[in-house]
Amino acid sequence: MNVKKIVSEMTLEEKAGLCSGEGSWHTKVVKRLGVPDVMVSDGPHGLRKQDLSIENSTANESIKAVCFPAACAIAASFDRDLIHKIGEALGDECQHEDVSTILGPADNIKRSPLCGRNFEYFSEDPYLASEMAKNHIQGVQSKNVGTSLKHFFGNNQEHRRMSVSDEIDERTLREIYLAAFEGAVKDAKPWTVMCSYNKINGTYASENKRYLTDILRGEWGFDGYVMSDWGAVNDRVKGIEAGLDLEMPGSNGINDARIVQAVKDGRLDEKVVDQAAERILNIVNKYKENRKPDTEWDMDAHHELSRKFSGECMVLLKNEGILPLKKGRKIAFIGKFADKPRYQGGGSSHINSFKVTSAFESAKNMADITYSQGYDLAEDRIDEAMIREAEEAAKNAESAVIFAGLPDSFESEGYDRTHMSIPDCQNELIKRVAKVQPNTVVVLHNGSPVEMPWSDDVKGILEAYLGGQAVGAAEADVLFGDVNPSGKLPETFPIKLEDNPSYLYYSGEGDKVEYREGIFIGYRYYDKKNMEVLFPFGYGLSYTTFEYSNLRLSSESIKDTDKLTVTLDVTNTGKIAGKEVVELYTGKKHSKIIRPVKELRGFEKIELNPGETKSVTFNLCKRAFSYYNTEIHDWYAETGDYDILIGKSSRDIVLSKPVHVESTVKLPVKLTVNTTFGDLLEMPEASKALKPLIDKVKTAIGMQSTDKENDKENSSAISDDMCNAMLKYMPIRGLVSFGGDKSITYEGLEKMLDELNRKLNK
Ligand code: BGC
Repeated sequence: MNVKKIVSEMTLEEKAGLCSGEGSWHTKVVKRLGVPDVMVSDGPHGLRKQDLSIENSTANESIKAVCFPAACAIAASFDRDLIHKIGEALGDECQHEDVSTILGPADNIKRSPLCGRNFEYFSEDPYLASEMAKNHIQGVQSKNVGTSLKHFFGNNQEHRRMSVSDEIDERTLREIYLAAFEGAVKDAKPWTVMCSYNKINGTYASENKRYLTDILRGEWGFDGYVMSDWGAVNDRVKGIEAGLDLEMPGSNGINDARIVQAVKDGRLDEKVVDQAAERILNIVNKYKENRKPDTEWDMDAHHELSRKFSGECMVLLKNEGILPLKKGRKIAFIGKFADKPRYQGGGSSHINSFKVTSAFESAKNMADITYSQGYDLAEDRIDEAMIREAEEAAKNAESAVIFAGLPDSFESEGYDRTHMSIPDCQNELIKRVAKVQPNTVVVLHNGSPVEMPWSDDVKGILEAYLGGQAVGAAEADVLFGDVNPSGKLPETFPIKLEDNPSYLYYSGEGDKVEYREGIFIGYRYYDKKNMEVLFPFGYGLSYTTFEYSNLRLSSESIKDTDKLTVTLDVTNTGKIAGKEVVELYTGKKHSKIIRPVKELRGFEKIELNPGETKSVTFNLCKRAFSYYNTEIHDWYAETGDYDILIGKSSRDIVLSKPVHVESTVKLPVKLTVNTTFGDLLEMPEASKALKPLIDKVKTAIGMQSTDKENDKENSSAISDDMCNAMLKYMPIRGLVSFGGDKSITYEGLEKMLDELNRKLNK
């Protein structure tokens, strides 16, 4: 298809028409010019293709498919290869089903445990989120199927998601909320990006040129097309101008007509419509020209993949010698989720799974398992009879495993949670069973942190997240030791909701939500405040043990333009094979900038046999040391000493080494009469230039005689003494008041500073 030629032959009406969907899931056909339609479908952790064989089928009637672990779980694997493979499997399913683009991954940051859609998101950390999204995209697109990286951006709550304005400062946007998308766009080049519903600093994401065009395309090199989230269009003309190419679903031609009218009225340049049509057709073409209609996929094989992956995502949070359970023993499985696991979330990502395996079914051939329901999912009511039955079963067994977590109604797209608890009836059940059976383990199903008031009462806790349709089988694998758990938490579990940094402002007031915690979300906040948490970011246990040693850096000192290679050895010191996630953080102790204590800059997952040692290598560049400097609107690594921190979790740093980083970027100097002497003295050139004047002030305020270093030319020596003096925080205009020299005027001073600024900024 010669896209440019076709667009040039299209009428304005045809072009505008192409810029909105045909119904919910298709792009438009332009028969006259041989333009075919293509289908898009949800995503992200399975294929939710509307069943077109059903007459008048609604968007919710989808074909049978395989539900893989949701993003909340996948992120816990910290495994790039695993999510890549899920992407490949989805790509095959799409090719087989003739779906050109799968709507995902969803890459919004988990700002608060309350966001109803957290289960679809990866992490509180932008680096982890972006690495996961990147590999998902690369996996799907390796099959010549597109992805739609969503929801760009700021859809961090479901409350008023279609109208709320996220009020976020520039540094926070860059370091946290945009950063989650940045790496994924730059490195994986998604075919499409889906804009979010919300506004960002007052402007709808769907008509926000700064993000849809300037940053996404201009800075990050995105070259696909942007589609709207379903119904996210507010003003279609503003939207297309800002860079929103495709409106989904179609608006029955209403918005297309507005585009046409705007061009006719001269309010919109037709070239903008041409460009959007061209971008859409390029992607349609890309899919069609390399279509692989013969792609087969085996549902059962993908179910087995889902089981394998689910096991790799589980996070062992507590294990006081109880896990793995011994096979062949009498064990009480308790809780509805043992029989009917909650394995995915509600809303647009909901997969019509062709089968679901429960832990109860799967463990039956591993041990003598009894099952008691324990609680009801329909309502949160403590059912004494059910609890007594569970207590009895637990007493009569050697150990008890309680399957608990959030029911569907507690966590879904479309609304937020109002608290961080699991249902009271489940909390009560766990407390009561743990009292009669000391060997109790809790397995959790949830997409986001929950409070665990019983965490001290039980011997084991396994976080299964929403692990996909084979989660039950994977749970049995992990509980009985066929799979050694290797997941780590992609988010902090605070002790209680009120500890979360966004707590005071989450949800917002009316149509505004202020992100007042700024960059301090998740562990960035808990670490800075040195707060106790229930389970920290990056934490997770194994059935074996690992020892880290021999940390080495390629250099002790680098320029910000250099690369730093960090290597260490990891040994499996236990008795069984296992996988370990090695985490690398950087931190700057003495920074002039308010920064987190440490930030995740690398992770690797390795597999080790007992006694085996492997080296793990990380390559770091400037970004690993940078913060976003809002003066230069760019990433900036301050000159100074940084710590390279290697951790088993964010709170278990086992190796560290310092590295000196020298900035090659000169920050602009803006001296004004209100610049303090203290700040001035930190700029050697500037303080040298003003030294004679400064000396006069010092004399005037009686410091000259005590200043022993005064004779030295080195101005930083002066600054040492002056640091303690009142001069440090005195503005330069003090020269007029204290200079003792009538010839120094404000005008003269300003002129002098202007000249100095010019010289210093050359
Ligand atoms: C969701 C998207 C989804 C779309 C299509 C929207 O409501 O926010 O994530 O892809 O619907 O189902």
